[in-house]
Parts: sequence; structure tokens; C-alpha cells
Amino acid sequence: KKVVLAYSGGLDTSIILKWLQVEYGCEVVTFTADLGQGEELEPARKKAEMLGINPDNIFIEDLREEFVRDFVFPMFRANAQYEGLYLLGTAIARPLISKRLVEIAAETGADAVSHGATGKGNDQVRFELSAYALNPEITTIAPWREWDLGSRTRLLEFAEQHQIPIAKDKRGEAPFSVDANLLHTSSEGKILEDPAQEAPDYVYQRTVHPEDAPNEPEYVEIDFEQGDAVGLNGERMSPATILTKLNDYGRKHGIGRLDLVEGRFVGMKSRGIYETPGGTILLDAHRAIESITMDRMAIHLKDEIMPKYAELIYNGFWFSPEREMLQALIDKSQEHVTGTVRMKLYKGLARCVARWSDHSLYSEEQVTFEEDMGAYDQSDAQGFIQLQGLRLRLLANRNRKFQ
Ligand code: ARG
Ligand code: SIN
Repeated sequence: KKVVLAYSGGLDTSIILKWLQVEYGCEVVTFTADLGQGEELEPARKKAEMLGINPDNIFIEDLREEFVRDFVFPMFRANAQYEGLYLLGTAIARPLISKRLVEIAAETGADAVSHGATGKGNDQVRFELSAYALNPEITTIAPWREWDLGSRTRLLEFAEQHQIPIAKDKRGEAPFSVDANLLHTSSEGKILEDPAQEAPDYVYQRTVHPEDAPNEPEYVEIDFEQGDAVGLNGERMSPATILTKLNDYGRKHGIGRLDLVEGRFVGMKSRGIYETPGGTILLDAHRAIESITMDRMAIHLKDEIMPKYAELIYNGFWFSPEREMLQALIDKSQEHVTGTVRMKLYKGLARCVARWSDHSLYSEEQVTFEEDMGAYDQSDAQGFIQLQGLRLRLLANRNRKFQ
């Protein structure tokens, strides 16, 4: 038996690696991806080698461009927010990791994939649904659901027994659980579990406190083509470069912090602290460029399906026909979403202050408060309102009879 493990190089996934070897008698292949979590990957290779993994079975890949181009940007075309606020930073990374796990399984002749998500959360669902969608024969192994290493003590004992090095700062229990990538950092659990308690400052890892942000505002211009950001301040850049630079702006100005209680797919509610600095700027900028380049009814239809689309991603159905159908609709809507937005960044907020486009539907001639030059005949509005009002008047008449 051979299994591909999503391996971070950290203590928990190192224990999983060893557990798969000793309890399952598996040959283990490790997969470590750079999704922009801001950690060196080479230590993960060293650690995997030290744990007895054959160098041919160690896969380390930089997936940042693919992540932003094929997952984050398509999702941002929809302005997706789960329960009105969450920008889905963890949810959108899972399908890509699963895709590579399944591909590497095929390359190496493995019949199973494994991950370090617990049995209580969303991530297990996302990893496994994605894997099944891409390979119906694949077996998934979720050690957290199976083993008897539930307590920290048992976990550390197991590590010691199997000569897994434990960093000094990892001896104590981590104060909360973190997941990070180019789009966001999420922190949940442990000290964050009581939603009636404000999260301490040190939970925030990639944005300054808005109160401590510069007293001078800063501007950034984002160029869009067909719904995707393609450049900043007039300079063309790759998707991952754009998101990285927007993260720098967002960090400096304390943008994109969120303290949220959300409904997990498996049933319970959980409280999370999210930091999505660049994504928060990008979302507002994208809405701003849509506001001048998209038709009103097209925008409204898109806004109606957005919660459904966000829920599909949250629940792990990226690789599903219904997500792909909605994506086709969303992508079609972006044909003319091309132009530039100027964002003003100041103390935790990113606001659009100017937007322009060759594809604009905005007509100053139509909307002006100044003297009409014949572009719009105000007397047309009378008949328009009469007909819109007809049914309301019929109703009012009828209701008066039954008062
Ligand atoms: N609640 C978020 C989600 O379901 C984040 C989950 C992962 N976070 C973590 N700290 N392990 O997408
Ligand atoms: C986990 O349970 O592994 C993290 C949280 C989640 O998946 O929702």
C-alpha cells in the first residue's frame, strides 16, 4: 500500500507520516506545496528524509501562480463571501491541494491520499470530496478520525517513541490552530473558542492593528481585464505577484481583519479570526469596476447566485457540475469587466475613490443634474411610473374595500 500525504513539515503532519508507516504499514509519499503561507519548504524535505521517506517520494512544489490564477481569481469574479463576510481563503485552497495529491498518487502508483484535518471540521470534507471527484477509486485516510492520539500528551509520547523531533516551542499546546496561504490566514480553536471574548492582539499575524496604521492615506490603482486583476499602478504583473503586493498594502494599513462566527458544513458553529489583506482590497475594487462596466440586471442576477456559489466552495464542492455551471455564468458576466479602479487605503479600510473604463456603461449625459441636452426625456418617466404603479393602485383599491 502506498499513500500520498499532504505534508507541511510541522509536528502534527510528521506524526501522521510516522503513524501511516507504523500503523498502516504504508509506503508514504509526501507532498508539500507553497501556497504563499510564508514558510520555507526545504526544511520539510529534510524532515521527510529524516523520517525515512525515499527522496523520489518527496514532492515539493510552488503552486502560488496556479492557486491565484485558477482558484482565487475565478472565485473573486463572483465576489464570493460565505455568510456575508468570509472570503473563503482556506476553502479555496483545498481543491488545489487535493488535485495535486490525486495527480501525484497516479504518478507514483499510490492508491490512497491522506491529510491532517480533524474529524470535526470542513477541511476533511473539502479534501476528500475533491479527491473523489477527481478519482472515484481513490482511498482517503484521515488519521485524526482514527487514531487514539487525541490528547497532547499521547501525541508527544508517540513523537518521542518514534524519534520525531519536537521544537521547544511546540512542547506546549499551540494556543490556536492556524491555516495560511497567499489569500488569508485563519486562526481558530483553543483560546478563541469563546466568541464572547475579544481575540488578543497577538492572534493577528499579517496585518498591523488599524489604530497603529499610518496616519497618511495611500492610493493604489488596480487594472482589471475581464474581471481579473492584471496590474497595479499601471504595471502589468502575474496573478500571484498582484496578490502579494496587495497583501503588502493591506498589511501596512491594517486592512481585512475579520472576527466571525460561522456555520460549519458538519453542523456546529465555530469562531474564527481571519486576515485577508490583499483579498479585501481586491474584492471592493472588483465590485467597483463591475459597477461601471456591468448591466444592472446582470449585477443583480450575479448577486443572487453568489451566496449559493460561496456555499458550494465552503462545503467542498469546487469540483462539481453545479459549481462549474455557476462559474460559466459568472465568467460570461465578466466579458466587459475591464478598466481601472483607484483605491484609497486608510486605517483598516480600502475604499474606491475613482474608477474608469473604455467599456463603461456610465453616461454622464444621461445622469446629469444639469440642463438636459436631449439624451434623456424626463416626460418619458411619467408613463413609466404610471404603468409600474398600475398594479399597486389596483391592490390599494381592493384593500380599501376590505378594511
Ligand atoms: N473556518 C475556516 C474554513 O472552514 C478555516 C478552517 C481552517 N482553519 C484552521 N485554523 N485550521 O474555511
Ligand atoms: C480542522 O478541523 O482540521 C480545521 C477546521 C476545519 O476544517 O473546519
